[in-house]
Amino acid sequence: MRKNIVAGNWKMNNDLAETSEFLTHLKMQLVKEPEAEVYIAPAYTSLYHAFQTVKDTPIKVAAQNMHHEKKGAFTGEVSAQMLQSVGVTTVILGHSERRAHFQETNELLAQKVSAAMEADMTVIFCFGEELKERKAEEHFDVVKIQLQEGIFHLKKEDWKNVILAYEPVWAIGTGETASPEQAQEVHAFVRKSIADKYDRETADEVSILYGGSVKPNNAKEIFGQEDVDGGLIGGASLNAIDFLAIVNAFE
Ligand code: PGA
Repeated sequence: MRKNIVAGNWKMNNDLAETSEFLTHLKMQLVKEPEAEVYIAPAYTSLYHAFQTVKDTPIKVAAQNMHHEKKGAFTGEVSAQMLQSVGVTTVILGHSERRAHFQETNELLAQKVSAAMEADMTVIFCFGEELKERKAEEHFDVVKIQLQEGIFHLKKEDWKNVILAYEPVWAIGTGETASPEQAQEVHAFVRKSIADKYDRETADEVSILYGGSVKPNNAKEIFGQEDVDGGLIGGASLNAIDFLAIVNAFE
């Protein structure tokens, strides 16, 4: 059975003190057995502290990015091995901000995905179309290519360590959410693409999150869609009360 998951992507927000305060609150307020697996992705500088703070709780810590090489002359970069050394075993890859502002291509992402798998990490792999692509009705093609070039090189066995996140770029941080039907339509398409490439079992087991302006007031309807297994939350994950409300939005 695939899992419900809610992951908070803090982006470049929250310093060490703010991370500590948030996680202490979240830990106290979160029910012992939440309906969803909960991830928080703070900045690199807070990862060690975050992991230490939540290690005996159901909350998991993810990184927002990593480099595909193990080590070497890559100033400013962090490897899978370094993340693991501070207790972090999950990484977000392919976020649209990384693709847009840091020129991360499908080809580069495929290398990062492979490096993460080799290091036995879980990957939250993001993909989604831009507004002009949606308007041109190219969203299915764009999503298919992102999957084919970025992650469909994995072996069937690797998929137990994959979480997907469909994030239409036009809905990220804009307050404009894809309608539950629009999300469902793409999620079903993604699941079918996985079934065609691998098999039905692999497709049915992978959790596919929706991301893009998920808030407490729309989470329930979006998560209620058959192929939506939770959310990757940006803005609303910075407020512990809102984030908890989203975690508790499963029926
Ligand atoms: P948002 O961001 O919830 O602020 O739209 C989502 C994301 O970027 O993952």
